[in-house]
Amino acid sequence: MWWFSILVLLYNSSFIFSQSLPLLLLVSFNGFRWDYPKLYGPLGNFSRLEQRGVHAHSMIPTFTTATYPNHYTLITGLYEEIHGLISDHMYDPKTNQTFQAGETTANQWWPFKTIWTLNEQMNGARSGVINWPQGFISTSKYEPYKKDRSFKDTIDLMLSWFNDQDRPINFGAMYFPEPDLTGRRTGPYSSNMKATIKQCDEYLGYLLNEIDKDIRLKTKLHLIITSDHGMEQINATDRPMYLEDFVNINKLKAFGTETVLNIFVNQPNDINSILQNLTQIPHSNTYKKENLPVRYHYKTNSRIGDLIIIVEPGYELHRQSFRICEDGGTRVDLNTIHGNSGYDNQIDSMKTIFYASGPELKENFTLSKSINLNNVDIFPLMCLILNIEKCSLSNGTLSHIQPFLNDPSKLSSLNGKETEKLHDGPMGLVIYLLVLVSFVLILIMAVAWSAVSFRNASAMARAAHPDAATIAEQNQYKFTQINDLKLHPSIGDDNL
Ligand SMILES: *[C@@H]1O[C@H](CO)[C@@H](O)[C@H](O)[C@H]1NC(C)=O
Ligand SMILES: *[C@@H]1O[C@H](CO)[C@@H](O)[C@H](O)[C@H]1NC(C)=O
Ligand SMILES: *[C@@H]1O[C@H](CO)[C@@H](O)[C@H](O)[C@H]1NC(C)=O
Ligand SMILES: *[C@@H]1O[C@H](CO)[C@@H](O)[C@H](O)[C@H]1NC(C)=O
Ligand SMILES: *[C@@H]1O[C@H](CO)[C@@H](O)[C@H](O)[C@H]1NC(C)=O
Ligand SMILES: *[C@@H]1O[C@H](CO)[C@@H](O)[C@H](O)[C@H]1NC(C)=O
Ligand SMILES: [Zn+2]
Repeated sequence: MWWFSILVLLYNSSFIFSQSLPLLLLVSFNGFRWDYPKLYGPLGNFSRLEQRGVHAHSMIPTFTTATYPNHYTLITGLYEEIHGLISDHMYDPKTNQTFQAGETTANQWWPFKTIWTLNEQMNGARSGVINWPQGFISTSKYEPYKKDRSFKDTIDLMLSWFNDQDRPINFGAMYFPEPDLTGRRTGPYSSNMKATIKQCDEYLGYLLNEIDKDIRLKTKLHLIITSDHGMEQINATDRPMYLEDFVNINKLKAFGTETVLNIFVNQPNDINSILQNLTQIPHSNTYKKENLPVRYHYKTNSRIGDLIIIVEPGYELHRQSFRICEDGGTRVDLNTIHGNSGYDNQIDSMKTIFYASGPELKENFTLSKSINLNNVDIFPLMCLILNIEKCSLSNGTLSHIQPFLNDPSKLSSLNGKETEKLHDGPMGLVIYLLVLVSFVLILIMAVAWSAVSFRNASAMARAAHPDAATIAEQNQYKFTQINDLKLHPSIGDDNL
C-alpha cells in the first residue's frame, strides 16, 4: 500500500531520528563447516557464544554452494535464481558478458538492495563493510578485501566504526577468508584444519573480549557469526576428470566451477546429443534446465545454462582450457587441492554454522533439529533486529527464526513488500512525487464524494424511512474499519 508507505515515511522523518538505533554486526568466516566445533572442539569461545545467545545445529546454504552467490544471499535473503549471482563463474546471455569472482567488479551484477543499503535508508543509520566478497559496495564506511589484513586489524577497525565520534555506524558486516583457505589446501580432516579452527576460536575470543570491554556494545550489540558453505574432502586418486574427454567443446560454452557447470549449447539441435555425452561423465548428473529438482531453486534465471552438470561430492570436473587460469588468475596445482565446496546444498558436508546474540535474542538457546535453518532466513532476522520495516520480500521463512526471539510478536512488523532494485535512477523521485500528488488529489475527491453521498443517502433515507439514516452511518463506519485493518496487515503465510 503506497499511501501507507508515505505515512510511515512522514512518521519516520520526525521521530525515528532521535531514537537510539539498534546495533548489529554480521561476521562471515568463509567455508566454516557446521561440524568443525564437534570435530575440533571443545572451542572455548564458540561455547561462550552459544551460552550468550542462540545457535542452530547447522545451516543450509543456497545452491550452488559457492562463495560469492551465498554471500549475496546472506545480505538479500534471495535464492540465486532470483538475485542472479548463480555461480562464481558465469555467463549472461542477455549482455554477452562473463562474471569471474574476485575479478569482476561492475555493480550491474549486484542489483538488489542489501541489508546495509536498507539500513542506511533509515534516519541517522550508517553501515560499514570490511572485506566482503563483492565487487561494488557503497556504504558510509567501506574497506575492500585485502589479503594481508589481519583478523585483529579487521575487528579493531570495525569496532572503531561503531564508536566513531561523528559518524558512528549501527550495522557492520565483515568477512574472514579462513577456514576456507585451509579447507581447500589440506581438506576438512587435516591437522592443519584443526589448528586453523583453534585459531578462529581465538579470533572470536578477541572479538568477544573487545565487545565486553565496552559497556554500550556489551549490552546493545547484536552479533551474528555465520558462513557461506561447508567443505568436502577431495581425494587425489579420483582426479582428474576433464570435460573435453566427453564432449566436443566447440559445440558449447561452459561456465562454472569444478562442481557445477552451466552449459550453453551453440545449436539448439545439438542439445540431446550433447546431453547424451555428458551423462557419460562418471560421478555426476546432467540435467536439462527445466528438469532440475525444484529444491535447488535454480531454474528461472537466464544465466543458468541449457544443461547443468552437478558433480557428486568428493569429485571434480575440470576443463583443459582452464589449466592456465582458474580461481581468478593463478592456476592452482591440482595436487595441492584437497577440499572443495559447490556440491548439493542439502548434503551434510556443505552445511555451515549459525550463532547469534544480542538483546532481541534468547540466551543459551539451541534451535530444534527439526527446523532446517536456511541462509535465506538470516535476512529477515537482520531486518527485524535493525527495525527495518521496509524490508523487501525475501525467500526466508519467518517460522524458522521465530524461536530465536525474545518477543516473537515483533515478526508482524515484517510485512511483505516487493523486492526492490538498488538502481532506481532519477525516475524514482519523479514517480514518488507523482504518487504523492495523486494521493492528495484522491484524498480530496474521496472526502468530497463521501460528504455528498452521505448527505444524499441521509436525505433519501429520511424521506423513505427514518431508520435508514442510521444504516448509512453504519456503512460508513464499516468503511473506516476496513481501512484501519489494512493499516496493520498481518502475515498471511510463512514466506516474506
Ligand atoms: C560476445 O562476446 C565475445 C567475447 O567478448 C565476442 O567474441 C562475441 O562476438 C560476442 N557475441 C555477440 C553476439 O556480441
Ligand atoms: C578464547 O579467545 C581468547 C582470546 O583470543 C584466548 O586467549 C582464549 O584462549 C580462548 N579461550 C579458550 C577457552 O580457548
Ligand atoms: C559424443 O562423443 C562421441 C564419442 O566420443 C563423439 O564422437 C561425438 O562427437 C560426441 N558428440 C558431441 C555432441 O560432442
Ligand atoms: C575421500 O577420503 C575420505 C577420507 O579417507 C573418505 O572419507 C571419503 O569417502 C573419500 N571420498 C571419496 C569420494 O571417495
Ligand atoms: C545452557 O543450556 C544447557 C543445555 O540446556 C545447560 O546444560 C546449561 O547449564 C546452560 N548454561 C547456562 C549458563 O545457563
Ligand atoms: C523468492 O523471492 C522472490 C522475490 O520476492 C519471489 O519472486 C520468488 O517467487 C520467491 N521464490 C520462492 C520459491 O518462493
Ligand atoms: Zn566460500
